[in-house]
Amino acid sequence: MNIILIGPPGAGKGTQAKRMIDRLGVPQISTGDMFRAAVKEGTPMGLKAKEYMDKGALVPDEVVIGVVDERLKKDDCKKGYVLDGFPRSLDQAKALDEMLAKSGSKLDHVVVIDVPDDFLVSRLTGRLTCKNSACGNMHHIETYKPKVAGKCDKCGSDLYTRDDDKEETIRQRLTNYHKQTSPLIDYYGAKGIVRKVDGTGTMQQVEAAITQAIGA
Ligand code: AP5
Ligand code: ZN
Repeated sequence: MNIILIGPPGAGKGTQAKRMIDRLGVPQISTGDMFRAAVKEGTPMGLKAKEYMDKGALVPDEVVIGVVDERLKKDDCKKGYVLDGFPRSLDQAKALDEMLAKSGSKLDHVVVIDVPDDFLVSRLTGRLTCKNSACGNMHHIETYKPKVAGKCDKCGSDLYTRDDDKEETIRQRLTNYHKQTSPLIDYYGAKGIVRKVDGTGTMQQVEAAITQAIGA
């Protein structure tokens, strides 16, 4: 099953993607995670991506598209994937269509996690992200407190606050989402594959809504 998750920053794409891949047995492809790993390694691509991420801007399409094209060719994607954070612009969506056509596959569901802006700033300023990129678990200082302060429940690594989880940068990311990414909802709506879910409930409620929407 090939699935895209769309939603504003803080909607819970990463949180829900992790739950979905456990259920579906397919990989999570998160462009944000891939860029953060490249930043940590200090690769040229990571250094370029960081310039944009720190401002809350989108990394240029030509960089992102190349990274995803490479990733989707890997063997573990043959049984499907959950794309988290890609595509994020119409040009990225069109590039993905070409990748799918070349590999003779198609998208099954575009899950849109709907959360009003008012909820998102506090979700992101309170987010604590696991430093271990192989884990990538996200806690929250109020809604999902770690059992031991500053340590990830899943793997015990340190938790940190992402550089782009500052209020000013969050607002810029939200503006960009509405301008550049939300038009994708109509783009995929015209193909009849959009499944909108209410993302304002608890993590368990949102998970149940997604399970119902995609029938798996
Ligand atoms: P990326 O890492 O994709 O960030 P994002 O889209 O801004 O999304 P987030 O990771 O911030 O939020 P999320 O929806 O995953 O929410 P989460 O589950 O963590 O991208 C970062 C940057 O990389 C971009 O700004 C851009 O520069 C670049 N980039 C990435 N992809 C790109 C692309 N395709 N093109 C160009 N540039 C790209 O949840 C948030 C918090 O809320 C957590 O603390 C969580 O515990 C909590 N939470 C989750 N669900 C609930 C709930 N139901 N109730 C209460 N709390 C909840
Ligand atoms: Zn962890």
